[in-house]
Amino acid sequence: MEVVIVPDAAAGGELIAEAMAALLRRKPDALLGVATGSTPVPIYEALAAKVASGAVDASRARVCQLDEYVGLPSGHPESYRSVVLRQVVEPLGLSTGSFMGPDGTADDLLAACEAYDRSLAEAGGVDIQLLGIGTDGHIGFNEPCSSLASRTRIKTLTEQTRVDNARFFDGDIEQVPHHVITQGIGTILEARHLVLLATGEGKAEAVAQTVEGPVAAVVPASALQLHRHATVVVDEAAASKLKLAPYFRATYAAKPAWQGL
Ligand code: GLP
Repeated sequence: MEVVIVPDAAAGGELIAEAMAALLRRKPDALLGVATGSTPVPIYEALAAKVASGAVDASRARVCQLDEYVGLPSGHPESYRSVVLRQVVEPLGLSTGSFMGPDGTADDLLAACEAYDRSLAEAGGVDIQLLGIGTDGHIGFNEPCSSLASRTRIKTLTEQTRVDNARFFDGDIEQVPHHVITQGIGTILEARHLVLLATGEGKAEAVAQTVEGPVAAVVPASALQLHRHATVVVDEAAASKLKLAPYFRATYAAKPAWQGL
């Protein structure tokens, strides 16, 4: 995988937004897999700015969700559907018809999981999948020891993830659902390009294990090592535990600018 160390979160957002813009220039109806959480917000802001300035036309872009809480009422402001509509679909001026996600309110959740996995494939597959990383190394909501071959399915959140995400629910862990639907690791690995952004010291250990540790289900993000086009963008703080940081810096500095991510 390629590791790119950037000075700060804004620089990471700009770099990834430019990669998305380049994708949309060569494939205007690209399927953009988006992630939630605080980390990707600078990406969405930078991409929306490019659209507003006319640097890229995103009008034919399609957007898909990575994961969703189970049981939040439809329209709940912290459901990932609402978050993606607010942070991505609306700022890019897209219609809700160009957006798909798993249905966390379905009566038959198992069928909803299978249907979502199928609809991603029927849509031609994800062109670029953005990922954040949990402090425990999860991607999407694939908690430690998720099968590396897993498909979209229901997962139970760890206590750590519920604690981490309580800040989106007035700091009240009781409001954080226990269950979620997430694209499986096997599903995520089918995207054509995986781009993981991690910022802040709190992610440094998970990043080091992802990049320099063995491929292991206990660190779900380490599955990126199996992908032929995976990019890990980290700020200085999140890179602080990477032993190979000097090598990653030198490699990226020597890369021709036209290559992009
Ligand atoms: C949630 C999401 C992940 C995200 C993670 C980290 O668990 N399901 O997709 O990567 O949070 O979020 P943050 O970027 O806010 O640290």
